[in-house]
Amino acid sequence: MSYKIERILLSHEQIVNRSKEIGAQISKDYAGKRPLLIGMLNGAVPFFAELIKHIEGEIETAFIKASSYAGQTCSSSGSVVFTGDLNLQIAGRDIIVIEDIVDTGLTIKTVCAFIREKKPKSLAVATLLDKKSRRLVEVDVKYVGFDIPNVFVVGFGLDYDELFRNLPYVGVLDSSSI
Ligand code: IMP
Repeated sequence: MSYKIERILLSHEQIVNRSKEIGAQISKDYAGKRPLLIGMLNGAVPFFAELIKHIEGEIETAFIKASSYAGQTCSSSGSVVFTGDLNLQIAGRDIIVIEDIVDTGLTIKTVCAFIREKKPKSLAVATLLDKKSRRLVEVDVKYVGFDIPNVFVVGFGLDYDELFRNLPYVGVLDSSSI
Protein backbone atom coordinates (compact mmCIF):
# COMPACT_ATOMS: atom_id res chain seq x y z
CA MET A 1 0.00 0.00 0.00
CA SER A 2 1.42 3.39 -0.89
CA TYR A 3 0.18 6.55 0.75
CA LYS A 4 0.06 9.91 -0.96
CA ILE A 5 0.51 13.45 0.24
CA GLU A 6 -2.43 15.49 -1.03
CA ARG A 7 -0.82 18.90 -0.47
CA ILE A 8 1.88 20.66 1.50
CA LEU A 9 0.33 22.59 4.38
CA LEU A 10 3.54 24.07 5.83
CA SER A 11 6.80 24.26 3.94
CA HIS A 12 10.15 23.57 5.55
CA GLU A 13 10.97 27.26 5.23
CA GLN A 14 7.79 28.28 7.08
CA ILE A 15 8.56 25.83 9.88
CA VAL A 16 12.17 27.04 10.22
CA ASN A 17 11.10 30.70 10.23
CA ARG A 18 8.43 30.11 12.85
CA SER A 19 10.88 28.08 14.96
CA LYS A 20 13.25 31.08 14.85
CA GLU A 21 10.46 33.33 16.14
CA ILE A 22 9.51 30.97 18.95
CA GLY A 23 13.18 30.43 19.81
CA ALA A 24 13.68 34.19 20.08
CA GLN A 25 10.59 34.49 22.29
CA ILE A 26 11.76 31.69 24.59
CA SER A 27 15.25 33.30 24.77
CA LYS A 28 13.58 36.51 25.94
CA ASP A 29 11.11 34.90 28.33
CA TYR A 30 13.79 32.77 30.00
CA ALA A 31 16.70 35.23 29.90
CA GLY A 32 19.08 34.56 32.80
CA LYS A 33 17.34 31.25 33.58
CA ARG A 34 18.28 27.72 32.65
CA PRO A 35 15.09 26.03 31.43
CA LEU A 36 14.84 22.29 30.95
CA LEU A 37 13.23 21.49 27.60
CA ILE A 38 11.49 18.12 27.59
CA GLY A 39 10.73 16.76 24.12
CA MET A 40 7.91 14.29 23.63
CA LEU A 41 9.08 11.20 21.75
CA ASN A 42 8.82 10.40 18.93
CA GLY A 43 6.88 13.09 17.12
CA ALA A 44 8.46 16.21 18.61
CA VAL A 45 12.06 15.30 17.70
CA PRO A 46 12.37 17.34 14.45
CA PHE A 47 10.66 20.42 15.94
CA PHE A 48 12.72 20.09 19.13
CA ALA A 49 15.95 19.89 17.10
CA GLU A 50 14.98 22.92 15.00
CA LEU A 51 13.74 25.01 17.90
CA ILE A 52 16.73 24.65 20.23
CA LYS A 53 19.07 25.94 17.50
CA HIS A 54 17.33 29.30 17.87
CA ILE A 55 17.36 29.60 21.65
CA GLU A 56 20.09 31.74 23.13
CA GLY A 57 21.38 31.17 26.63
CA GLU A 58 21.67 28.10 28.78
CA ILE A 59 19.18 25.28 28.34
CA GLU A 60 19.09 21.62 29.26
CA THR A 61 17.34 18.94 27.23
CA ALA A 62 15.58 15.66 27.92
CA PHE A 63 13.03 13.36 26.31
CA ILE A 64 10.05 11.42 27.56
CA LYS A 65 7.53 9.20 25.88
CA ALA A 66 3.88 8.96 26.82
CA SER A 67 2.21 5.74 25.74
CA SER A 68 -1.42 4.89 26.29
CA TYR A 69 -0.78 1.21 26.79
CA ALA A 70 1.01 -0.79 29.49
CA GLY A 71 4.44 -2.01 28.43
CA GLN A 72 7.70 -1.85 30.35
CA THR A 73 6.45 0.63 32.89
CA CYS A 74 8.72 3.07 34.65
CA SER A 75 6.10 5.44 35.92
CA SER A 76 2.44 5.88 35.15
CA SER A 77 -0.36 8.39 35.38
CA GLY A 78 -3.84 6.95 34.81
CA SER A 79 -3.72 4.70 31.75
CA VAL A 80 -0.74 6.61 30.29
CA VAL A 81 2.69 5.13 30.81
CA PHE A 82 5.78 7.35 30.80
CA THR A 83 9.24 6.19 29.80
CA GLY A 84 12.48 8.03 28.99
CA ASP A 85 14.46 10.50 31.11
CA LEU A 86 12.40 9.99 34.25
CA ASN A 87 15.14 10.48 36.82
CA LEU A 88 15.46 14.15 35.99
CA GLN A 89 15.47 16.76 38.69
CA ILE A 90 12.24 18.63 37.87
CA ALA A 91 11.48 20.11 41.30
CA GLY A 92 12.21 23.83 41.34
CA ARG A 93 13.08 23.95 37.61
CA ASP A 94 11.63 25.95 34.73
CA ILE A 95 10.21 23.29 32.42
CA ILE A 96 9.14 23.66 28.79
CA VAL A 97 7.43 20.64 27.25
CA ILE A 98 7.87 20.41 23.48
CA GLU A 99 5.12 18.67 21.47
CA ASP A 100 4.50 18.04 17.79
CA ILE A 101 0.73 18.60 17.89
CA VAL A 102 -1.99 19.33 20.41
CA ASP A 103 -5.24 17.83 19.17
CA THR A 104 -7.89 16.89 21.77
CA GLY A 105 -5.43 18.06 24.45
CA LEU A 106 -5.73 14.83 26.43
CA THR A 107 -2.08 13.79 25.98
CA ILE A 108 -0.54 17.10 26.94
CA LYS A 109 -2.92 17.45 29.88
CA THR A 110 -1.73 14.10 31.24
CA VAL A 111 1.91 14.99 30.58
CA CYS A 112 1.52 18.31 32.41
CA ALA A 113 -0.18 16.61 35.36
CA PHE A 114 2.70 14.11 35.52
CA ILE A 115 5.28 16.92 35.53
CA ARG A 116 3.36 19.09 37.99
CA GLU A 117 3.42 16.24 40.52
CA LYS A 118 7.19 16.73 40.58
CA LYS A 119 6.80 20.38 41.64
CA PRO A 120 8.53 22.39 38.91
CA LYS A 121 9.05 26.11 39.47
CA SER A 122 7.22 26.81 36.20
CA LEU A 123 5.73 24.78 33.38
CA ALA A 124 5.04 25.87 29.80
CA VAL A 125 4.10 24.01 26.62
CA ALA A 126 5.41 24.64 23.11
CA THR A 127 3.84 22.85 20.16
CA LEU A 128 4.57 22.97 16.46
CA LEU A 129 0.91 22.48 15.55
CA ASP A 130 -2.37 23.20 17.28
CA LYS A 131 -5.74 21.81 16.16
CA LYS A 132 -7.86 23.98 18.44
CA SER A 133 -11.17 22.95 16.85
CA ARG A 134 -10.64 19.40 18.17
CA ARG A 135 -10.04 20.32 21.79
CA LEU A 136 -11.86 18.22 24.41
CA VAL A 137 -10.03 19.51 27.49
CA GLU A 138 -8.67 22.93 28.32
CA VAL A 139 -4.89 23.20 28.15
CA ASP A 140 -2.64 26.22 28.36
CA VAL A 141 -0.29 26.17 25.36
CA LYS A 142 2.10 29.10 25.60
CA TYR A 143 4.01 28.75 22.33
CA VAL A 144 2.15 27.65 19.19
CA GLY A 145 3.90 27.23 15.86
CA PHE A 146 0.81 27.10 13.68
CA ASP A 147 -2.93 26.79 14.22
CA ILE A 148 -4.14 24.25 11.68
CA PRO A 149 -7.60 23.09 10.56
CA ASN A 150 -9.05 19.69 11.36
CA VAL A 151 -7.12 17.68 8.77
CA PHE A 152 -4.81 14.70 9.32
CA VAL A 153 -1.25 15.85 8.77
CA VAL A 154 2.08 14.06 8.53
CA GLY A 155 5.71 15.07 8.28
CA PHE A 156 8.24 16.95 10.38
CA GLY A 157 7.86 14.30 13.07
CA LEU A 158 4.18 13.50 12.63
CA ASP A 159 3.35 10.02 11.44
CA TYR A 160 0.69 7.83 9.95
CA ASP A 161 1.35 4.25 10.99
CA GLU A 162 4.94 5.29 11.88
CA LEU A 163 5.56 6.57 8.34
CA PHE A 164 6.35 10.11 7.11
CA ARG A 165 8.14 11.41 10.21
CA ASN A 166 11.15 12.17 7.98
CA LEU A 167 9.37 14.59 5.62
CA PRO A 168 10.94 18.07 5.88
CA TYR A 169 7.49 19.68 5.61
CA VAL A 170 3.99 19.15 7.03
CA GLY A 171 1.56 17.71 4.50
CA VAL A 172 -2.03 16.57 4.37
CA LEU A 173 -2.39 12.86 3.80
CA ASP A 174 -4.66 11.91 0.90
CA SER A 175 -7.52 10.22 2.76
CA SER A 176 -8.34 8.02 -0.22
CA SER A 177 -4.89 6.45 0.09
CA ILE A 178 -5.36 5.49 3.76
P1 IMP B 1 -4.27 14.57 21.70
O1 IMP B 1 -4.05 13.78 22.94
O2 IMP B 1 -5.62 14.30 21.09
O3 IMP B 1 -3.99 16.04 21.84
O4 IMP B 1 -3.34 13.96 20.60
C1 IMP B 1 -2.02 14.13 20.54
C2 IMP B 1 -1.41 13.05 19.67
O5 IMP B 1 -2.28 12.57 18.62
C3 IMP B 1 -0.22 13.64 18.96
O6 IMP B 1 0.94 13.60 19.77
C4 IMP B 1 -0.14 12.78 17.73
O7 IMP B 1 0.58 11.61 18.00
C5 IMP B 1 -1.57 12.39 17.42
N1 IMP B 1 -2.17 13.23 16.36
C6 IMP B 1 -3.21 14.08 16.47
N2 IMP B 1 -3.49 14.66 15.29
C7 IMP B 1 -2.59 14.17 14.41
C8 IMP B 1 -2.37 14.40 12.99
O8 IMP B 1 -3.03 15.18 12.30
N3 IMP B 1 -1.35 13.70 12.45
C9 IMP B 1 -0.57 12.83 13.15
N4 IMP B 1 -0.75 12.59 14.45
C10 IMP B 1 -1.76 13.25 15.08
